[in-house]
Amino acid sequence: MAVRRRTSIPNQTAAPPNPDPGGDPQPPNAAPSPDEFSLAPPKLGLILSVLALFLIPFFYLLFVHYQIESDLRYYISICVALSLVGFGFTVGLIPVAARYLLRRNMFGYDINKRGTPQGEVKVPETLGIVTAIVFLVVAIVLQLCTLTADSDWLVEYNAALACICFMTLLGFVDDVLDVPWRVKLVLPFFASLPLMMAYAGHTSIIIPKPLVPYVGLSVLDLGLIYKFYMILLVIFCTNSINIHAGLNGLEVGQTVVISFAVLIHNLMQIGASTDIDYKQAHAFSIYIMWPLLTTSLGLLAFNWYPSSVFVGDTYTYFAGMSLAVIGILGHFSETLLLFFLPQVLNFLYSCPQLFGFVPCPRHRLPRFDTQTGLLTGTKDMNLVNLFLRLFGRCTEKSLCIRLLIFQALSCLMCFGLRYILAGWYK
Ligand code: UD1
Ligand code: MG
Repeated sequence: MAVRRRTSIPNQTAAPPNPDPGGDPQPPNAAPSPDEFSLAPPKLGLILSVLALFLIPFFYLLFVHYQIESDLRYYISICVALSLVGFGFTVGLIPVAARYLLRRNMFGYDINKRGTPQGEVKVPETLGIVTAIVFLVVAIVLQLCTLTADSDWLVEYNAALACICFMTLLGFVDDVLDVPWRVKLVLPFFASLPLMMAYAGHTSIIIPKPLVPYVGLSVLDLGLIYKFYMILLVIFCTNSINIHAGLNGLEVGQTVVISFAVLIHNLMQIGASTDIDYKQAHAFSIYIMWPLLTTSLGLLAFNWYPSSVFVGDTYTYFAGMSLAVIGILGHFSETLLLFFLPQVLNFLYSCPQLFGFVPCPRHRLPRFDTQTGLLTGTKDMNLVNLFLRLFGRCTEKSLCIRLLIFQALSCLMCFGLRYILAGWYK
């Protein structure tokens, strides 16, 4: 039986004011004992508004802006409908799973509320397991509607799902056993094996036009090196989401923003292309991204500030792996890396601590001031602390929103860059 306790809280005598002066004054979980335990209601108003705001441009591009084949429109609509069912199941199952997880002592303390009553609530951990299971069910059932039995894509689609499933398992193992982070780094390699073995797609890259005179080739076959690149991409995507974390809603929020961007990118590519295989690659990505988006939104309804559940490494690995496999199989890993700009910057900035040149504490989180409810940046080398040092102290919720805006701006910049470089770069 896995019994664990994530963080210890120093004994606090004075009960200071609510950490978010403008926020919810109630602790997220009403009762401390697992048997009487009940979760704070999900923030459905906020989440459904976000979803509706995204559905409008998505359906506009799908049905109005682009001339897309009617059967593809039909499959994508079925995918959206099934994914919305997945959203309902995620929201319904999280309170049930949270009770069971708490009973097994799978909980964490909210570090950015240390010293307040909210900081002493046992927050159920690893709720990403619900998201991942509902995602897998939806993605598997979707095969019935979107892929025929003899489809060329079936093998790779199933290999991708096997990777996501394997990664979820390893993430859950990590949450239960609290694996040392150097081991965490390599877990995604093992999870990527099903795709590496099944991958039969091309292993060549198109050389950017300005470099063709120097390289002497327009297409370069990388062979085994390409597979090595795929492994590196998987390791990067999974770990980079996991280390850009620690604020209520940040892990899921960044995944949601990237998923929005990937879905719009897929539709734009389908709309602009006449190549069947190319369209199929992007449709494949849509069939993975929609369930990822809606099941993540279901989790975000509970994980947004103030979090009533934590997502665990199960979620960060699951989300990173899902994004990596669609980047690989959809053949748009460069674009994906541009969407991951904050994660790339966070990783590069973190390197001195990750590789031991500078001491790295277990949690690289800001300091919380119980009097003002504001966070102050520490010397730890990550974007969370850098934003606080650059833009000043703020509440946890504002910091998370700032970081998500930065994520959205990076995605917009990527679209702008693709537009400017179109035809010149490739
Ligand atoms: C990574 C980061 C670590 C960060 C942690 C937060 C690196 C090398 N590691 O570690 O700096 O502190 O993620 O997830 O950069 N928690 C909160 N509020 C939240 C989310 C999580 O307080 O909104 C705390 C809870 O105590 C929770 C714990 O973080 O139990 C989860 O940490 P875990 O995911 O195990 O940390 P790592 O992924 O190892
Ligand atoms: Mg983590």
